[in-house]
Amino acid sequence: MFSIISKIIIIVEHFFYNIFIFSLECCFLLRYPFLLKVRLLLNSFYFSHKEINPDDQSDFIYGETPMFTMAQMLSIAKVKDNQHFYDLGCGKGNNLFVAYCLNKLKPKGIEQNSSLLNVGKSIAKVLNVNSMSFSVNDFLNEDLSAADIIYIAGTSFEDETINNLSKKSETELKKGSIVITLSYPLQSSIFNVFLKKKMFLSWGRTMVYFQKKRS
Ligand SMILES: C[S@@+](CC[C@H](N)C(=O)[O-])C[C@H]1O[C@@H](n2cnc3c(N)ncnc32)[C@H](O)[C@@H]1O
Repeated sequence: MFSIISKIIIIVEHFFYNIFIFSLECCFLLRYPFLLKVRLLLNSFYFSHKEINPDDQSDFIYGETPMFTMAQMLSIAKVKDNQHFYDLGCGKGNNLFVAYCLNKLKPKGIEQNSSLLNVGKSIAKVLNVNSMSFSVNDFLNEDLSAADIIYIAGTSFEDETINNLSKKSETELKKGSIVITLSYPLQSSIFNVFLKKKMFLSWGRTMVYFQKKRS
């Protein structure tokens, strides 16, 4: 009986959280017609995660960063025009469009799941966006040396993936580059966490770490 009640509470809580996030996203999108168009196109693509990842490993659990949250993150990171923004595990590429539209960044999305990535790629084509690049690859095999700002929405990533990403960031990223991670900071003393803040993600409020490479 107790477990049924707690399940009902979780479902109701989730329902109201989704309505809240949806309202915030709508208010944000009404100010940016280009992003509203992108959001409508993103939502019009049917995608079933389980069909594409039958193993259902935790690295590949799909969730999204709302566009208003990404806009807030890029503003905190104080990004500058023409900087290179990398989203490691970009999914459908929603964050790339925010970085392109609001901050004039040069976005690159790396995603192992080609079905997800192709959604973003098609939308960029339809909207005539040429300054965005997409790579179907394991981000651990991608060269990150050109990046100025890196985003890793890795709340559900395995410890081993996080450790490998931390080592790769230590050796490959340039001095002064900014890394934004969810739920945990990079496991490295070369990165200085200059801000941590709870923000709204599709799966709930999550701690976001903003860190800068010292050397
Ligand atoms: C939680 S989703 C985040 C999607 C998007 N970045 C966002 O914030 O809206 C994480 C994504 O990382 C991808 N991913 C996980 N491990 C990866 C790897 N080693 N290489 C490339 N993509 C990976 C998954 O397929 C998934 O689409």
